Amino acid sequence: MVEAPSPLKRVLVTGGAGYIGSHVVYALQNTRRFKVISIDNHHNSYPKSLLRVSQLSKSELPEGASAQDVETTEIDAHKCDLTQPEQIRQVFQKYGKAGIWGVIHIAAYKAVGESTEIPLTYYANNVGATVSLLQVMAEFECTRIVYSSSATVYGIPPIIPIPETTRLQAESPYGKTKVMAETIIQDLCQAEPERWRAISLRYFNPAGAHPSGVIGEDPRGRPGNLLPLLAHMAVGRVKEDKLMVFGNDYPTPDGTCVRDYLHVLDLASGHLLALDALAPGSTVFDNCPTPARVKAFNLGKGKGMSVYQIVEAMRKATGFDYKTEVIGRRAGDVPDLTADPALAEKELGFKADKDLDTMCRDLWNWQSKNPQGYGED
Ligand code: WQD
Repeated sequence: MVEAPSPLKRVLVTGGAGYIGSHVVYALQNTRRFKVISIDNHHNSYPKSLLRVSQLSKSELPEGASAQDVETTEIDAHKCDLTQPEQIRQVFQKYGKAGIWGVIHIAAYKAVGESTEIPLTYYANNVGATVSLLQVMAEFECTRIVYSSSATVYGIPPIIPIPETTRLQAESPYGKTKVMAETIIQDLCQAEPERWRAISLRYFNPAGAHPSGVIGEDPRGRPGNLLPLLAHMAVGRVKEDKLMVFGNDYPTPDGTCVRDYLHVLDLASGHLLALDALAPGSTVFDNCPTPARVKAFNLGKGKGMSVYQIVEAMRKATGFDYKTEVIGRRAGDVPDLTADPALAEKELGFKADKDLDTMCRDLWNWQSKNPQGYGED
């Protein structure tokens, strides 16, 4: 049964139930221009997150909102394993040929350290699944994609801050999966320049949560990333008060790794700008060196913060007395990943303007209101 055509643009978000995905879904709904479809295997997310997103969007509807506005707060959520092409096809079949306007492809495994231990799982899920998705998109005449890439594609960058022209030389299997997927998308756009439009967004370090505290980051198991781990420590979900610092002998101001943290809502806004840049009439591809309509942009603030600076900012936001202990470096870590955000600012109108204190305050507001996160499957 094919859904009736809709005046709203249908956008499919892979990984829509995840931390980034749920905030991107919220931002799409907030425009009242899109009907969102989400596919997610819930490997690192909970179905409840999308119920919360809808609840949040409905709470922000104006009095007397139209039926179409109400429809933008509904999400077609599908549990789907992107490594299984038939499962992807079943979702696209529901909307028919050209029934989905574009795809925001966020779903991926993303732990730098873990990827060095199980590389094949990362290649299958991050690269194999991307190929399957693109193949099904082509079958259903859906040829616009915003791809979630990563600053880890730069490896150890030769210059800081990092412009998009920097050679891609990922250090970890995770980063290499992102380089490979970007390359696959570039080659596809090169082969069919009149058909495909694509933008890869190289995320730096997303942080924070929607200020309502209704949605937020809730990784399954012990968080691998610094900020959610610090939040779990402060709320008692991790019974430790000492952060293990993975090395303080890096060539950085205080010896710990430097990262460019940006608010997850600023990151989500970047996706909307990229999606709109795929529409006819956009000038974003005008100065491309080849006919291929494909481009990559950094999404960052252009401001690097060290591990110790993050701990201090979270101490201020949570009131928790963190201790630290320096241990060995983590496999795959690089000293400094700080973005040069000028290209995205100039060509997409992107601006990551929320500061670190806001990120930490919003993260703590989410975590303190939801000590067990979404807490259920
Ligand atoms: C930050 C810093 C650690 C935990 C993330 C995502 C990855 C990609 C890039 C999007 C590092 C240090 C951490 C701990 C520590 N994002 N640290 N003790 O490694 O930059 O990767 O951003 O694609 O998917 O995972 O972020 O938060 O894991 O680490 O010392 O217990 O904190 O060494 O320097 P990272 P992170």
